[in-house]
Amino acid sequence: LRQKYIDAIAGAGDEATLEDIRVAAVGKKGEVALKMRELGKMTPEERQVQGPKLNALKDEINAALAAKKAALGDAALDERLKTEWLDVTLPGRARRQGTIHPVSQVTEEVTTIFADMGFSVAEGPQIESDWYNFDALNIPPDHPTRTEMDTFYMSTPEGDDRPPHVLRTHTSPVQIRAMEKLGAPIRVIAPGRVYRADYDQTHTPMFHQVEGLALGRDISMANLKWTLEEFCRAFFEVDEVELRFRASHFPFTEPSAEVDLRCSWEDGKLHVGEGDDWMEILGSGMVHPKVLSSAGVDPSKWQGFAFGIGIDRLAMLKYGIPDLRAFFDSDLRWLRHYGFSA
Ligand code: PHE
Repeated sequence: LRQKYIDAIAGAGDEATLEDIRVAAVGKKGEVALKMRELGKMTPEERQVQGPKLNALKDEINAALAAKKAALGDAALDERLKTEWLDVTLPGRARRQGTIHPVSQVTEEVTTIFADMGFSVAEGPQIESDWYNFDALNIPPDHPTRTEMDTFYMSTPEGDDRPPHVLRTHTSPVQIRAMEKLGAPIRVIAPGRVYRADYDQTHTPMFHQVEGLALGRDISMANLKWTLEEFCRAFFEVDEVELRFRASHFPFTEPSAEVDLRCSWEDGKLHVGEGDDWMEILGSGMVHPKVLSSAGVDPSKWQGFAFGIGIDRLAMLKYGIPDLRAFFDSDLRWLRHYGFSA
């Protein structure tokens, strides 16, 4: 009996087999228990001899089972260690972090600078009604600006006679929305996406502007000039800038001016405030009285300036990025190169 079980235990290949052996040998109804029961039929002398023998056998089998179980455990662990080893001396694998897009970065910078000058942030929808994008800004239906702006029109549902909504062609409609909501006096900027059907190295069908609007009792062109100069000094991180106000025309401002920044290009880098180049960066002017009226602001009491800056243009200038189209290609190599760490 002893040899039978000792051999069986030695030959067991896994814990389940070992458990079967245990039940058969030393379980409640196992062979050793049966033998124990037979002790009752024996003479006291026989029992004196067989009793301890059986107990010793039981102990021996239990010990063999325990030893084998431990050995099987070790073997299983060895097996796992062989396949699942880990070299803790290997250098760690660096995880790639995402970057902040130059447009987000510049929007953040611009917002901070104007916030320091007392401008809060206003918002409006990217799908805009004909009224907010055009009419309220003194651009009547037959005005050439409508075609010049390469507008994307939304389709209109059957039976809807209203003029179609558009993808806003500029952030100027937010001027109207902000005036309706906040009235005058007011100082807001409105950064956001705008859309025009245009595509080349400096134009993409979606791009970004930041609108500015300041209304008060006597806000003038002089205030506009200082505000923009102050902005450019802070944004381009230079002590002095020179801006050139070129007379221009926008239906929603009178007078209107496009503003150029004095700069030079040396070995591919932009130098602001010096040189003989002029870079157009924005459109601006005094808000047209008709625009104030459209938004419910009394033009006999309030006046002020508005401007619209191209954010992508600013990003290209400040960070020396040559092609606007690459801004929106989602090429990871480009994003790693021009992006900012969080
Ligand atoms: N909305 C004009 C544009 O997109 C810019 C502008 C804004 C001009 C505000 C004057 C005042 O070109």
